[in-house]
Amino acid sequence: MTQDMTQATTPTQHAPLSPSYQAPRIVTAIPGPQSTHYLKLQKEEESGAVSYPRKLTFAIKAARGSFIEDVDGNVYLDCLTGAGVMPLGHNHPRVIEAAKKQLDTFTQGLDFPTRIKTEFRQAQLSMLPDAIREQMLVHFCGPTGSDAVEAAIKLCKLYTGRDEIISFQGGYHGASHATMALTGLRTVKESIGNVMPGVHFFPYSNCNACPLGLRKESCETNCATYLERSLLDPNSGIKKPAAVIMELVQGEGGAIPAQKAFVQRIRAITRELDIPLIIDEVQTGCGRTGTWFAFEQYDIEPDIILAAKALSGIGSPVSLMMYNKRLDVWKPGAHIGTFRGNQIAFAAGVETIKIIQEDGILENVNEVGQYLIEKLREIAARRAAVADVRGLGFMLGVEICDPLTKRPSYPIASQIQKYCLHHGLIVELGGRDDVVVRLLPPLNLSLNEANIVLQILDDALAQVSSPSAPAI
Ligand SMILES: Cc1ncc(COP(=O)(O)O)c(C=O)c1O
Repeated sequence: MTQDMTQATTPTQHAPLSPSYQAPRIVTAIPGPQSTHYLKLQKEEESGAVSYPRKLTFAIKAARGSFIEDVDGNVYLDCLTGAGVMPLGHNHPRVIEAAKKQLDTFTQGLDFPTRIKTEFRQAQLSMLPDAIREQMLVHFCGPTGSDAVEAAIKLCKLYTGRDEIISFQGGYHGASHATMALTGLRTVKESIGNVMPGVHFFPYSNCNACPLGLRKESCETNCATYLERSLLDPNSGIKKPAAVIMELVQGEGGAIPAQKAFVQRIRAITRELDIPLIIDEVQTGCGRTGTWFAFEQYDIEPDIILAAKALSGIGSPVSLMMYNKRLDVWKPGAHIGTFRGNQIAFAAGVETIKIIQEDGILENVNEVGQYLIEKLREIAARRAAVADVRGLGFMLGVEICDPLTKRPSYPIASQIQKYCLHHGLIVELGGRDDVVVRLLPPLNLSLNEANIVLQILDDALAQVSSPSAPAI
């Protein structure tokens, strides 16, 4: 070890911690000197698979509400929220208090029952629509969304005795070996051998970029018809699958909401053929789209619902699967994992649901989400680098193109992300070719904060939308 440890872990003085933040504040170059120090150490000591800090170049000191402060005293409005795990922003005082109280009581408990776990489970069940609440059982998974997907696949294979799965192009279901196989993005799996076999990808109803090459206005359901015929046609080459898994808004895929008619047709055919339908609400769940679960807006009843990310309200990991009782065929220990009993997450999650209900958070998502999408569409009308604006609730995407050629442009999307960062706004890129600026703000984002997001994004788009624009 050549490094002096005190130097390595303790850079110079930090600015005092602000009790709360009202607006972005940029006081150094980005990254500032202390962030540069931490980023350099991270590069030396952590794996080559580190991802977010490569583009969002800062080290974090603290966060509160919708804002993150870096170690140099720069404050950013956070539209990434730990990839959608902070429904109430950072460190909501009531949620923190609930977590602290639990910390003194009991922290990890495998799958033993506890008072707080029972409260959490019942609170989650209480959020289901009346029509299905009584039919569902809860299974706690290892604490990632990927593990909930793994559990669902195993359960469906057991229940049906079948072995293949249908997934959708553009979908994202995780980074473990099996969930990678269910994910559309090819780059992550092309270099890894032996991913889970037996996955068939079907087109998703992404009408703006119709996967069947049809005109946008021609249909809502051709994708569903194609799947339906493939399931019914004895010559389609596809065996009856153990499950169909889908997101209702493709998040990592670029904030693409599915067409309602498409989803309803998929539900109808899977029901007719007794194929369990897994709705992956790892990202859309917990109010992100304006209802507690996105499936409520599609008027369907899933066989399996997966949730994780925002469940605890403070990013304390917990994930679960809710499934129809008729699927409950597995034996004790069929899907286990050490960290299924995160009591801190349960306590925080119970408090989070209370706050979401008491503070009208879903109404906020609907109202401010609608405002954001309307304003983003106004911006799109005057900024040539915007190819599309879309989303549902607080799961929004602005697709970026080259203003001259109108082709998707990663360099320009990346310039926009950088401009935003340098002016105090954290946004992530996603979707095909990473050209979609994704907004995943806290669900309690205020109108004032929404206007800050719009202003910075509009300024960034102004910079790149003019052909003579200087490089940012
Ligand atoms: C829809 C969906 N499913 C599954 C996952 C995987 O969750 P995790 O990263 O917690 O494993 C994600 C993560 O982004 C997701 O968006």
